[in-house]
Amino acid sequence: MEGYDYAKCIEISKQVRWDIDKDVIRSREFDLSQKFLPDGLSKVDQLDFLNEEERKFLSQVQGRTYANMFGFVERFIVAKILEITRGHWLGDQIALEALVRFCDEELKHQKLFLRIEPMLAAGMPEGYRFLHQPDAVAAAVLEKSTWAVLALILEIELFTQEHYRQSIEPDESLSPFFKDIFLFHMKEETTHALMDELEWRREDKKVTPAERDRAVDELIELVAAVDGILQAQSKTDVDYFLKVRNPPIEKGEIDRIRNGVLKAYRWQYIFSGAEHPRFKRILGSLIAETQGKRINNALGLIR
Ligand SMILES: [Fe+2]
Ligand SMILES: [Fe+2]
Repeated sequence: MEGYDYAKCIEISKQVRWDIDKDVIRSREFDLSQKFLPDGLSKVDQLDFLNEEERKFLSQVQGRTYANMFGFVERFIVAKILEITRGHWLGDQIALEALVRFCDEELKHQKLFLRIEPMLAAGMPEGYRFLHQPDAVAAAVLEKSTWAVLALILEIELFTQEHYRQSIEPDESLSPFFKDIFLFHMKEETTHALMDELEWRREDKKVTPAERDRAVDELIELVAAVDGILQAQSKTDVDYFLKVRNPPIEKGEIDRIRNGVLKAYRWQYIFSGAEHPRFKRILGSLIAETQGKRINNALGLIR
């Protein structure tokens, strides 16, 4: 973003800094009589054959996965950002400080999401599963080039803010506690997206045209891997929902739930990032038209 540099990121980071217990949790517990994830993200409002209680529970299941997904992607985000700090060790100490703060914040976010998972588990029926191991997925992601991984990280950190502003903040029917978690999370994500852009552009200057071309393919591979994760998790979440609630519905409606939740997850973790105007603008400034077409074709296969 224009006019933002690492010094500004440090300044913002100091202003918005929060504490897990004192600011976010504040001795609160989750109230299961409230909705967690807003319709704008969960898309449960499109499943009109479910009653209000069933839709609310499906929003809670999705909300639990939403928190777990963040705790999980933050593992590879910290690892990659820590790795790129190396480029500043003996140089720009302001950039180094800004990136160290970034990592510190992401470690704290992982801790927050780890704290709330058992709190959600305590209020919800048994049987929920989050399938993916953060270290294993991070190791696979980190096999890809820095250019491709930074692109994915920027997408994630842009949609985090977008979700809060567009969907979570305006929805007055949500659990205030759930809402607060993502308010505080979003506050510290603002500077992350700024630094992702700075670092991605910096990396882009270092790569050869052939390396960039390969990195475009790697970005496509990463998005396909994310989609694999979403397919598996959406299936598990719908199985859990059906087992616990056992709604009196027909086979065709079960398929609608399965497709609806997968579509919601693809919106949450792929398209709200890939279609983010800032992401599109930055990506467009780094790649050739033919490379952009390759990405669009790959996204078209997912939709
Ligand atoms: Fe985070
Ligand atoms: Fe972040």
